[in-house]
Amino acid sequence: MSQQLKLKQEVAKAALASIDDGMILGVGTGSTVNCLIDLLPQVNLKGAVASSKVTQDKLEALGIEVMDLNYVGELDLYIDGADEVNPNLQLIKGGGGALTREKIVAAASKQFLCLVDESKWVTQLGREFPVPIEVLPQARSYVARQLVKLGGEPVYREGFVTDYGNLILDTYNLEITSASEMEQTLNNIVGVVCNGIFAANQADKLLIAKSTGVELLQ
Ligand code: 5RP
Repeated sequence: MSQQLKLKQEVAKAALASIDDGMILGVGTGSTVNCLIDLLPQVNLKGAVASSKVTQDKLEALGIEVMDLNYVGELDLYIDGADEVNPNLQLIKGGGGALTREKIVAAASKQFLCLVDESKWVTQLGREFPVPIEVLPQARSYVARQLVKLGGEPVYREGFVTDYGNLILDTYNLEITSASEMEQTLNNIVGVVCNGIFAANQADKLLIAKSTGVELLQ
């Protein structure tokens, strides 16, 4: 087993302590969250709200009831991974392409607990990992041109369609000195459905797995 997978399993195990008995849990998407999903039969959930079809299938395969967000009101807790996290607990997400649904479930939750291994920790977002931007199919080229004007280098994620039938532009080299401002600027481009900067919906708490153990930041 790789050291990174071991860290993902450790951080997932540490997250179990945050899950209350009888809760409806918001569940993110990705390999770190998959480690958590594997452990969920150990806790007593009323149900879960899934942030992607992939997560929904995994939850249902374990016999966990997946509920429609529209019928459950505000969630107490959302748990998800991230591609990058900065010291303000702002994130880049969407490596798995589920950013829009992830942002909706995060926004509809009282608390967002983010799980990462130490490779995700950065001082400034977007220097290495591109910002995934979900766009309406017809607006793909228009949005790409606006991103170039902002200094970005958008790369069309070929062969990938989101759960909502949209496309992803993975955008490199955006200078993200203020994550909140960049999130807003990207949202203002016509045709953008959602972008992978989570500043307005940043993590409230972070569990970060290091070779020395799991640490909690908040
Ligand atoms: C999916 C995401 C994931 O949370 C992010 O890509 C991290 O994934 P992993 O846990 O596999 O490293 O945003 O859209």
